[in-house]
Formats: sequence, structure tokens, C-alpha cells
Amino acid sequence: MIDQLTRIEQEAREALAAAGDAESLEGWRVAYLGRKGRLTALLRSLTELPLEERRAAGGAANRLKNDLEAALAVRREELEGRRLVAIETGRLDVTLPGRAKSVGRLHPVTQTLRDVLAAFVSMGFSVVEGPEVESDYYNFEALRITKDHPARDTMDTLYVDITHDGEYDVVMRTHTSPNQVRVMEKTQPPIRVVVPGRCYRNEATDPTHEWMQTQVEVLAVDEGIGMADLKGTLFQFAKRIFGQDRKVRFRCDYFPFVEPGAEMAIDCSICKGAGCRTCGGEGWIEILGAGMVHPEILANMGYDAQRYTGFAAGMGIERICMLRYGIEDIRLFYADDLRFLKQF
Ligand code: FA5
Repeated sequence: MIDQLTRIEQEAREALAAAGDAESLEGWRVAYLGRKGRLTALLRSLTELPLEERRAAGGAANRLKNDLEAALAVRREELEGRRLVAIETGRLDVTLPGRAKSVGRLHPVTQTLRDVLAAFVSMGFSVVEGPEVESDYYNFEALRITKDHPARDTMDTLYVDITHDGEYDVVMRTHTSPNQVRVMEKTQPPIRVVVPGRCYRNEATDPTHEWMQTQVEVLAVDEGIGMADLKGTLFQFAKRIFGQDRKVRFRCDYFPFVEPGAEMAIDCSICKGAGCRTCGGEGWIEILGAGMVHPEILANMGYDAQRYTGFAAGMGIERICMLRYGIEDIRLFYADDLRFLKQF
């Protein structure tokens, strides 16, 4: 291990001395100190060593990391100094037109999120936001998901390490639905809002499940709102985002905070409905849960539940993005490997 460190140090120092501009310095940093760099790889492999050796090698590797970082800073200053001298002595013609830099693009999930929000804004909805770290009350209790409710099992919750009276009651929100309650508490009908946000679940990941996902909650409360409004709005949204030709499946589902409840799925863009690894052989990918806001919740908000009704939906933006672009695995979106993103 120590031999390896010595070799890396020698090579790194030679390469650093040879790096003559900012671009090659960055290349050097990535190659030696970056997340996939040689030193980082070596540090990772230390776990395979016995404890004593690991301690010694770990110390030496960390020292080398600090040394190389310091050497990089020195080299950077040196090169910057040279550049300034070159400008001052007129050897560098700063009047030459520059080379255009390649401009970054939005992450496909961000782009899809914006398109989804725009579709709802065009139907008269406003965008509001709510907290990512939620109380157990808003995430569960106020939505009729009591402590012993089986619905808690479907949302493997990441609790924040804070207790009140011995109870863990602060969570990373598992869905954006707590915002139904937050909005209704503060607002009188008519309500038409969409609430985007990151959500977290302690999931075993697979092609359509990540431990972090982006949802958009949709909430409309008014006099005379019915299932037809829910369905009409969601079908209009699906047409806007997926085009006319995609198939939409709408069927019953259960969520404690709506009655009746439904789910919507789109035909799998990878297998065109035949069944594949991405859709788990189903031919469909579920994109959202929805339903009519439970009258008990409307009443808890102080609304006259005889007069007002409402619908709500919560959709998964990563899945919508997968379906739009024919992406086989949700885990590609947030993987370290940025090559995947270059296609967008
Ligand atoms: C919910 O989260 C409900 N809050 C939805 C809802 C809102 C129902 C309003 C009724 C009224 P569900 O757990 O099914 O339901 O998630 C909703 C959508 O989020 C799913 O259809 C899916 O598109 C996406 N989703 C859920 N879990 C994951 C995950 N682990 N990874 C990626 N996307 C997910």
C-alpha cells in the first residue's frame, strides 16, 4: 500500500509540473483527487485491509491527499501569476475574440418538472412550496395516516434524529401531500395549487424506485368539484406532457386521505406495453395517485364539507421523465456517471 502511495505521489507531482493551464490543472485534480480519482479509489480500497494496516495506510493516504491539494493550490497561483505577467507585458492579446464556452443545460428532471408545472399553470393553478423536513403530523396524522396505519409501511420513512416525549416525530417528507393540509389551513376556497418538491423514502431501489424522488402535488377545492374534474384535468395534463398517442390507464386505488382514490399509469415507453424489466412485465408505469379530498379532512380544515369538495393528485416527476424520453432505469438520473446526462 505504501509503495502504491509513493508511486501515485511521484506520478502526480510530475503530472502537476507538466500541467500548464487551468484546463489541464482541472484534469489533474479529477484524475488524482476527484471522486473517481486514483487517491480516492485507493482510500476506498483501504476497507479491505486489516485494522492496523488500515490505520497506518489511511493516515499516510490522507496526508498525501492534503499535500497534493496544497501542491495544486501552489501550482494554480504560479500559473495565474504567469498569466498576469503575460498580460502586463503585452504578450497576450486580450483583444482576440474568446472561444465560446459550452453552455450547460437543465437536468432532464428539472426540465420535466418545469413543463409539468407550466401545464398546470396554463389551467389556472398557482405554484407554492412547502418544507422538505416535515412533522409526523403533516406527513401522516393530518392525512388520516395514524401511527398504526398500514399505509405507513408503503412509505418507508426516514426519520430525523429528533424526539419529542420519546417519539420520533420529524421526518423527511415521504410525499408532497402534507401540503394539501398546509395550503388548506391558510387559504379559503376556491383553491387551485400545485406544489413541487423532493420526497424521500427508505426504498430498496429498482428501475422505477429511487430513495429520493420529485413529486408534484395538485390540489383543487371549490364548490361543485367532482370526479369528472379530476379525471378531465389529469387527462388534459397527460395529453400535454406525453402527446396524443400514448395510452393512459386510470383505475381505483386506495389512499387514506381521499375517497374515492385512483391511480394513473402510462403505457411503458421501453416495451410499448409488451412487458419488460423497466415496467416489471406490466406494460404500464404508474405516474400518480389521486382522488377526491376526504370530507373529514375538509371538515378538519374548518370548511363546510357539504358546500366544498376537492380533488388532489401526487405525481412522480422522475417516472414522467423516464416515460417521455424512454429511459430504462430511474437510478440513472442521480448516478455519479454524468455521461448519461450528456444525451439531453
Ligand atoms: C403518494 O405519494 C400519494 N401522496 C399520492 C396522492 C396524492 C394520492 C394526492 C392521492 C391524492 P404514491 O406512494 O403512490 O402516492 O406515490 C405517488 C407517485 O410518486 C407514484 O405514482 C410514482 O410516480 C411516484 N413514486 C412513488 N414512490 C417512488 C419512488 N420510490 N421512486 C420514484 N417515484 C416514486
